[in-house]
Amino acid sequence: IIMDGNGRWAEQRGSSRSVGHRAGAKAVQCVIEFCLESKIECLTLFAFSSENWKRPEEEVSTLMKLFLRMLNTEIEELNRRGVCIRFIGQRSDFAEEIRLKMHWAETLTAGNSVLHLNIAGSYGGRWDIVNACRQLVASEGPDLTPERITESSLGRHMALADQPEPDLLIRTGGDCRISNFLLWQSAYTEFWFTPVLWPDINKTILQTAILDFASRERRFGLISEQLRSVVP
Ligand code: FPP
Repeated sequence: IIMDGNGRWAEQRGSSRSVGHRAGAKAVQCVIEFCLESKIECLTLFAFSSENWKRPEEEVSTLMKLFLRMLNTEIEELNRRGVCIRFIGQRSDFAEEIRLKMHWAETLTAGNSVLHLNIAGSYGGRWDIVNACRQLVASEGPDLTPERITESSLGRHMALADQPEPDLLIRTGGDCRISNFLLWQSAYTEFWFTPVLWPDINKTILQTAILDFASRERRFGLISEQLRSVVP
């Protein structure tokens, strides 16, 4: 999910953007609840992009404080509910206090499998692809010939390679673009856009997205006839 629209939600109320982000954090709890109730097994939230560091210092600072507060207050409950938490993105960009909490949250919840909750922080799809290339080179050493670079060998080093590729990408806030989210992983993902601003998201809207998704024919490059012969 690309959680867009916190700033505009706040502006509409004559409040500061920070107020919008705090309301956005509450919406995060609603979505996690929805996933748990609906037995959705993987949820990836775009919390902070590689480019978001360029926002005004005050806004970045608010987001970091919010991030830390959520790490301090939510993780134990999520752990009790069987949520496995993972952070994807350039972790070294974050302050040490946050990095330590991320590590703690991942370690604490590593054995859980009810819901895999991935938080993308200082993440960019292009960063992910470059990072995977670097890891592939590092792992293969001098043996790396051009032929050994395949979708499968590179794909193994992308973030979330051990999870299914996303079925559905939801973006709130009215813009119809991917904004450097999971570029590699969303090659065959279905997209669903809504003008609803992120803090206004609710379970009914999420249910509408899921129903729309369920009505789509996913062809993965094939034609309908071929799909009918594979799927009874
Ligand atoms: C985009 O809205 C939202 C963000 C850049 C931050 C998202 C953060 C949260 C929802 C809260 C914390 C979440 C977690 C998982 C800890 P925008 O500011 O770009 O809105 P605008 O397009 O209306 O300006």
